[in-house]
Amino acid sequence: MALCDMFEAFGIAAIALAGLTLSPAAAIAQPVPASANPVALAEVSGNWLVVPRRTPDSIAIGGIPRSFRLTVEGGSVTGTFRFNGWDYPIANWVARGDGFAFDLTGKPPFVQMRARPRADGRFMDVWIGDEMLGIAPFLARRVSDSELAAIERDAPRPDTMSKLPLPAPHDVGVRNLAPVPPMGWNSWNVFREAVDDRSVRAMADVMVSSGLRDAGYRYVTIDDGWQGQRDAAGILHPNSKFPDMRGLVDYIHARGMKIGIYSSPGPVTCSGYIGSHGHEAQDAKTFAAWGIDLLKYDWCSASNIYDTKVEMQARYQVMGAALQATGRPIVYSLCQYGLYDVGSWGNAVGGHMWRTGGDSIEGDLWHAVDYRFDHNGNAAHAGPSAWNDADMMLVGIDGLTPEEYRTHYTLWMMAASPIILGNDLRTMTPAVKAIVANPAVIAVGQDRLGIQGQRVAQIGTTEVWSKQLADGATALALFNRGTALAAITVNWRAIGLRAPKRVRDLWRGVDVAPAADYTVEVPRHGAVLLRVS
Ligand code: GAL
Repeated sequence: MALCDMFEAFGIAAIALAGLTLSPAAAIAQPVPASANPVALAEVSGNWLVVPRRTPDSIAIGGIPRSFRLTVEGGSVTGTFRFNGWDYPIANWVARGDGFAFDLTGKPPFVQMRARPRADGRFMDVWIGDEMLGIAPFLARRVSDSELAAIERDAPRPDTMSKLPLPAPHDVGVRNLAPVPPMGWNSWNVFREAVDDRSVRAMADVMVSSGLRDAGYRYVTIDDGWQGQRDAAGILHPNSKFPDMRGLVDYIHARGMKIGIYSSPGPVTCSGYIGSHGHEAQDAKTFAAWGIDLLKYDWCSASNIYDTKVEMQARYQVMGAALQATGRPIVYSLCQYGLYDVGSWGNAVGGHMWRTGGDSIEGDLWHAVDYRFDHNGNAAHAGPSAWNDADMMLVGIDGLTPEEYRTHYTLWMMAASPIILGNDLRTMTPAVKAIVANPAVIAVGQDRLGIQGQRVAQIGTTEVWSKQLADGATALALFNRGTALAAITVNWRAIGLRAPKRVRDLWRGVDVAPAADYTVEVPRHGAVLLRVS
């Protein structure tokens, strides 16, 4: 079974760990390193605060602290892992090599963890996951009772961690705010929790100066990590990294772009920040008052509370209705990893786009791209203001070849997915820019018919996809998912195109001869995109 299939089987449980870099596609397949030195049981006893790996002496950037409380009793270890406000009891602790392995129990059921205190006694390396799902490493720092108590006292705290009444299901009536798939940039892949006002402005500047805005990239979205605390009236304020949200919004708007923000239907976001649970109307008003144009709404900790499709729909409906009640046009982007056939109900809760799977950015990037050939929602659900979202782009991110970038971009265009860049635009190379700012290619994804292209032929690891365009032309993508150069032949008649008058290779920018059979050599993991008229 492929890794992503396993994550799907694993369901929401894996999602809740996204902030610890383990999410559906988040597996970091690496073995737990071995060391010859056995660890004394007593060394693990105490409190351990999860800290950023790069700056281990600092505490989390504003989210809810995550910690282990471990007690040695009768030759074994008991305790809890406090994650995003919930306590997960530790079970089945066993000494294993130079460290320890244990399970986390609770809801959702967690996978196995291993831990090994470092020699200095101050830090503990922790691995979460297992060989099947992949193992993500993180770091914990030893803290005293009083230090942990002080950190928790000052930390944000959600006020509603249990089930809230659900509204009766009804169709909130989606507005056509995204007639073509939204294009833009999102902060998560580059900055994660370190996102701040300055970095968002810098990206917006580059979007203008590089020409990306004019190529169609209009949304600048601040992902997780902007949230601070609620005040006594329940109003959610940004954390210290965003001292002037209204000013930031104005800055983006003044540059002819739109701004997106991120929250969760759960009490806590995937990375441990305050979510909108029970404060939907209030948060929607806050977003509208700031001038926000798009909300990415990520299920995350809602999975600790809600179990069913009906509950999920209801929680998304609450925010969908709240956004509409503000009167401001706000594109509503559902992030629930494609669960429960979201395309069949996304519009009814007010959604304009919905993710079709886990995070592309985690784990093996080619696998994340290749996976979408077979998993990107139901094309029948796609259309204006109803987009199957294949997740943020990996173009320009280390881990893929230039050929793979082009294949990735071509597939997302053919699939009429939103195109939300995730790379650092400040350091974008001309070669990357040439991929993401090719007007003829962008026109395929932005076609006003909004048809999601589909596979029309497949031989081994090669396949041909077709997408009908508004002016009567057809976009045809020839993909080679294999690891060797492959010749792909298209017979126009066989795929119902009769005798085309003009065939243009959009990546190469040249017309090719419209003979009865068109054969082209496609490199490994490569793609050719044709416009056939
Ligand atoms: C994940 C989500 C990512 C990112 C992250 C933030 O669940 O899929 O795109 O938003 O949470 O914590």
